[in-house]
Amino acid sequence: MDRYAVFGNPVAHSLSPRIHARFAELMGERIEYAAILAPPDGFARSAREFFASGGRGANVTLPFKVDAYALAATRSERATLAGAANFLYARHDGVFADNTDGAGLVADLQANLGVALRGANVLIVGAGGAARGVIAPLLAASPMRLVIANRTEATARELASRFRALGPVDGVSLEGIPRERFDLVINATSTSTRGEPLSLPSHAIARDAFAYDMAYGAAAAGFLERARAAGARAADGLGMLVEQAAESYALWRGRRPPTAPVLTELRAA
Ligand code: ATR
Repeated sequence: MDRYAVFGNPVAHSLSPRIHARFAELMGERIEYAAILAPPDGFARSAREFFASGGRGANVTLPFKVDAYALAATRSERATLAGAANFLYARHDGVFADNTDGAGLVADLQANLGVALRGANVLIVGAGGAARGVIAPLLAASPMRLVIANRTEATARELASRFRALGPVDGVSLEGIPRERFDLVINATSTSTRGEPLSLPSHAIARDAFAYDMAYGAAAAGFLERARAAGARAADGLGMLVEQAAESYALWRGRRPPTAPVLTELRAA
């Protein structure tokens, strides 16, 4: 049986084993998919052991996405642009790294939530690893403009200049968020998962905008509540998690599993 795993620290909370088990069931395939807790400074060793013992592929979550990128022998262009990988695959020429997070976000927004990206004015808040992983796929969907706003303005500017060749993107401070209507506001800061407050100017989330938190469940509740109070529609990142998993499954196994039933089941649970 083909063996897969998710590496993280912590990892016990990860929904990935459950998602991939359901994908396999729905596809009539048999796979093994485990959660592996790697020590904070021991990702490379743990991942190498996994692949040396016949592991076929892995997903990688916090805090190891940059380590996963570094470990690989070859990398996709989107992983290179993100400087981070959430996906590893044992190929004949060594371990290959990819990043399926951005594709997962774009699929959730467009296919599941009906949020059109083409021509949209998009604000992404945060300029850390989570933001970096999704900027190229967002720009590939042809928004009118993408504004990256960050507490530390210099990081937002740097990130914007790195991606400018791919589309219209600017970097600003949180206070410097322009007074214009954004169709879509994405929270890519670590404030939700860390339970910290995010201070955003009130004009950032317009009435009838769409607000999206890349975190899911209780962690995202505060941001979503605020967005709804401002009259926006809002969604957490559970769909992104399921879609990046489907993209991973398809890359490993050559057939894409259906996501809708899995997302419905997870929401119900
Ligand atoms: P991740 O991998 O989750 O993106 P990260 O790379 O540490 O984690 O990045 C965290 C992001 O959340 C950064 O954009 C950070 O802003 P700074 O660059 O100014 O540090 C942002 N962030 C973290 N705590 C925040 C807070 N309390 N308010 C606003 N932004 C915050």
